[in-house]
Amino acid sequence: MKRLGVNIDHVATLRNARGEKHPDPINAALYVIKCGANSVTIHLREDRRHINDHDAKKICSLKKVLVNLEVSMNQNIILNALKIKPSYICIVPENRKEITTEGGLNLKKNFNKLKKIIPKFKKAKIRTSLFINPSINDIKISKLLDVDCVEIHTGKLSNNVKLKNNYIKELNRIKKSSKLANTLGIEVHAGHGLDYKTTQLLSKISEIEEYNIGHYIIGESIFHGLPKVIKNFKRLLK
Ligand code: PXP
Repeated sequence: MKRLGVNIDHVATLRNARGEKHPDPINAALYVIKCGANSVTIHLREDRRHINDHDAKKICSLKKVLVNLEVSMNQNIILNALKIKPSYICIVPENRKEITTEGGLNLKKNFNKLKKIIPKFKKAKIRTSLFINPSINDIKISKLLDVDCVEIHTGKLSNNVKLKNNYIKELNRIKKSSKLANTLGIEVHAGHGLDYKTTQLLSKISEIEEYNIGHYIIGESIFHGLPKVIKNFKRLLK
């Protein structure tokens, strides 16, 4: 059984639209786990546009909820994350103007920075992942960085599938990268833009052990409810 992490940033976005307290991402974290998710993902962005410090602290303190905290390489965010102590960390690129995380990290450019950051999390016994593009070279660099996991950015695959473009080349890239990572002892995750169809395509890649999915799950739940949607994804990942 592959693991499903549900990204609940979108619940905080909805709450913030009114500047009030509802819907509460803390309740969302508890509820998605009750519905069968294996973990929750939250992104504490530098501009705090959705999840805020209070949410992150509270959600990470919930017993029985495994939390994957996405962080940029910003020094204050890293210090904050070390204090909050989530179960898992995923280091992601961040650009203030982007609507969402548009691609994987530039590992070559940020090698020295990451070489200093990763051991801090490892020392704190926090499982650490890098959000990367599906590239053989980036898998090799991830190995040099001695990271526990990589999360492969599936945005390009998802866009190609949604636009009915040829997606085989990108799917093969993800497949080859996953296989190499697995051979090198790096755990493989996938995330970004996933829906039922793309998750089903990727579920054939046995090396992918965890899926982190947000926007589609929350959107689809408006029509069918979180229990049903999470159950459908879990069925695909069997
Ligand atoms: N994984 C990572 C590392 C992400 O940055 C995101 C988007 O915030 C997701 C998964 C979830 O993406 P989506 O909301 O498109 O499913």
